[in-house]
Amino acid sequence: MRLFHCLPMLALAASASFIPAQAQQGSAPSFTPKDEQVEDLPEAPGREETFGLCTACHGYRLVSNQGMTRDKWDETITWMTERHGMPDIQGADRDLILDYLATHHPPKAPARAGGFRNPFAPQ
Ligand code: HEC
Repeated sequence: MRLFHCLPMLALAASASFIPAQAQQGSAPSFTPKDEQVEDLPEAPGREETFGLCTACHGYRLVSNQGMTRDKWDETITWMTERHGMPDIQGADRDLILDYLATHHPPKAPARAGGFRNPFAPQ
């Protein structure tokens, strides 16, 4: 919850360092904040923090389109920080966000591998 309360500040910090980078490296796909709401995401600890942090720069769909292991999500967060100037989130806040990402956006099962995968099965 601590991170959530600092989000307005984080968003400011993110946009300040983001604008020059955007000019050089192309921009994040455009989206309207109204398109997506935190309530659309599965309810779990870390939901607000993850949505708030990641949508400071781009649509959540860019995140939810991916399915990755916790390690790969960790690399993605590092990449967002190093390449795109996302605030460097460490410690408990990082764990909270990584747990949320790894639980709700796990690697997608390869189409061939297990054959049929019941979309209603609990993850
Ligand atoms: C400071 C701005 C910023 C923040 C905050 C940010 N991103 Fe990004 N992210 C970007 C930009 C810009 C792109 C698109 C350009 C690119 O792919 O390099 C992007 C693209 C992505 C992609 C798509 C990569 C691909 O292969 O197409 C993923 C996944 C992603 N971000 C995950 C995250 C997650 C998860 C968070 C929150 C923990 C996050 N981002 C927060 C700037 C940001």
